[in-house]
Amino acid sequence: MDVGELQQTLDKLHQEAKGELAAAKTLDELRSVRSKYLSKTGSVGSLMGTIKDYPPQQRGEVGKTLNSANKAIQDLVTEHTDRIGSAEVAADAAASTAFDPTLPGERTRLGSVHPVTAVQWEVEAVFERLGFTIEAGPEMESDYYNFEALNIPQMHPARDLQDTFWLKNGMLLRTQTSPVQIRAMEKFGAPLRCIVPGRCFRYETIDASHENTFHQVEGLMIDRNVSIANLIAVMKLLLNEVLQREFEIRLRPGYFPFVEPGFELDIACLICNGKGCATCKRTGWLELLPCGMVHPNVLKAGGVDPNEYGGFAFGLGLTRLAMMKFGIRDIRVVNSGDLRNLVHPARWAGPVIVDKG
Ligand code: DAH
Repeated sequence: MDVGELQQTLDKLHQEAKGELAAAKTLDELRSVRSKYLSKTGSVGSLMGTIKDYPPQQRGEVGKTLNSANKAIQDLVTEHTDRIGSAEVAADAAASTAFDPTLPGERTRLGSVHPVTAVQWEVEAVFERLGFTIEAGPEMESDYYNFEALNIPQMHPARDLQDTFWLKNGMLLRTQTSPVQIRAMEKFGAPLRCIVPGRCFRYETIDASHENTFHQVEGLMIDRNVSIANLIAVMKLLLNEVLQREFEIRLRPGYFPFVEPGFELDIACLICNGKGCATCKRTGWLELLPCGMVHPNVLKAGGVDPNEYGGFAFGLGLTRLAMMKFGIRDIRVVNSGDLRNLVHPARWAGPVIVDKG
């Protein structure tokens, strides 16, 4: 048989094999078709043995022709193994007869978490992915860290904005998580990226939207060339990740002595869809994420050179975000200790946590 005839024979065998493989319904049938063609005694396999009968200068070409025919059929076998294999697995699973020890187990969740804790974990997961560290600071603070170092001097009118619980020892209960901005700069210097979840306290009369004890997450990013665009991008990412639904926000100028410029980032109330309810004080909007570019005086107070570094800061209202996410209308529910308000695992799958195992 010359090389041309050999090629023709192989083409014909390939066609036959193709038809038979496609008709195979089980892996056993597939194996016997394979062996019919490719085993040593099979119709293609046995031709391998004829290479030596060709004149030496043709053997290379004959070998190549045979190898490529062999491979073409083997490729078909692989393709059909996948087809039949996955059909068999699916059929087994449907009949529930198979136990596959390689499938991952189901994680058991014990107990329920507080809605604020749930949202805090989600916020932490988002910022850890962005390379932020999670810091903490004391709840009993000094005037210096809570006000002075944040560009709010003794006689500054901004102090009236925050009704402070003063303690007999001259200290105070922190009214915001912002003092940890200064503590973090003192500890780590620049560049710096951190968030600070924590409790804050204000002397407030309690009603549906006011509490004397609430949670914030402070955020601080300091580096060279940090811009307002960076701030807005991070804020949007945060809300998208935590809320996982459509929402409307608006950004307007806001005054906070420790940032310049400062912004109020409001979210259209998710309880009433912006129509106005007790939770949003009938305005349809909720102040959720005040933020801005860190004031040079604050950088200086933290020992960072404002000529070299700049950054953004924000003070997320964590309690409010939890209320929006879980549809809690009345802030009094949050600290009530009523176990019925815990978030059952069926309602909340948990944050996307990269397993640190
Ligand atoms: N500490 C402010 C408050 O409790 C919130 C805040 C506003 C924090 C702007 C920030 C910021 O970091 O940049 O009212």
